Amino acid sequence: MTATPLRATPSASRSRTHLPTGWYSAEDCSLEDFRAVVEGGLAETTLEQYPCADALEQGVLVYGSRLRERTTTREGRREVQAELARALADGPGIVVFKDAFTHDVVEAATDAFRAMIEEQKAAGTASGDHFAKPGANDRVWGALDKLAVRAPEVFAAYYANDLLALVCEAWLGRGYQVTSQVNVVNPGGQAQTAHRDYHLGFMDQAQALAHPAQVHALSPVLTLQGAVAHVDMPVETGPTLYLPHSQKFPAGYVAFHQPEFTGYFLEHFVQLPLAKGDAAFFNPALFHAAGTNRSADVRRMANLLQVSSGFGRAMEDVDRAAASKALFGVLSAQAAGGVGERSLRNVVAASAEDYAFPTNLDRDQPIGGLAPQTQAELVWQALSEGWGAARFEEALDAQAARRRSAV
Ligand SMILES: [Fe+2]
Repeated sequence: MTATPLRATPSASRSRTHLPTGWYSAEDCSLEDFRAVVEGGLAETTLEQYPCADALEQGVLVYGSRLRERTTTREGRREVQAELARALADGPGIVVFKDAFTHDVVEAATDAFRAMIEEQKAAGTASGDHFAKPGANDRVWGALDKLAVRAPEVFAAYYANDLLALVCEAWLGRGYQVTSQVNVVNPGGQAQTAHRDYHLGFMDQAQALAHPAQVHALSPVLTLQGAVAHVDMPVETGPTLYLPHSQKFPAGYVAFHQPEFTGYFLEHFVQLPLAKGDAAFFNPALFHAAGTNRSADVRRMANLLQVSSGFGRAMEDVDRAAASKALFGVLSAQAAGGVGERSLRNVVAASAEDYAFPTNLDRDQPIGGLAPQTQAELVWQALSEGWGAARFEEALDAQAARRRSAV
């Protein structure tokens, strides 16, 4: 199929959308097309197109004093937000805010995060990191509510940050939901392979291909990805590698699994050093990867902020566990009686939760993939393995308990 990229414009005056529909295939992933998007974007982008930015460094827009001057009025704020959204959608796909957080605020949060990591180690619960080899990284999953509960004054100082609110509103509108994962890459910690991020970036290629093209276009506008530098991050410490403009390749959630694309990434990425308190925000569809920490002694700490649209949820709260328990007897009998798989799966799809997030990544860790088992997958496992009702209900309750935040 031919998919048309969803292109953003500076104004909201478009008369029709160009939303791609249909299905991607691995054959849609032409490296030549990808290069045209990336290299064309780099060639066309100038600092003058982004009047609120201070600099264009290695193809990345850097914001500081010019942005701050403009955000003192409501009109100026909206103008800045429109520019940021344009930069994230149709421009480089990444913006850096210099000195976004003051050092005292960052250091207070760093102390709290380090204490959490030490406690995890002491308790023997240091969480695995499914993105890296065991031991190379330290992680604090679910760090948002952990910080709020542990150090509310530190939290209040940290999340009072207006640049964070500015860019979250610019991309997601109001009602956004902040989550935070602290990531410490220790000396010797290896680079990640190039990828895109949540939602479709957390799927393997087959799972991504099971979603139609319009979902590939819409997923990036439902999440904003950010990173706050908690230490100085010169290049040898491995700050994140980015490929500006790569967010505009329509089939990118399929392509990043293919070696010719990761190979191209490795030859063309940019890597900006960050100073303590700087923050980078990027379109989750941007190809990126954490870098190798080649320093002797810098434990590279970033607070990764994954901010979600308030949308993407159903209008009604549904007790899907209760529904699944009630239906289990009927479905078990149907399965034993030879009712077809499609019919059974349709009932499970209409009743059980078949999305793995949000969850508690300390306790509900992915096994053999990037996403933990969903409720619907558990229902299906129980049906196909012929479990009894008691075993099923116990497993369903245990899964629900694992998924809840436990601060
Ligand atoms: Fe990532």
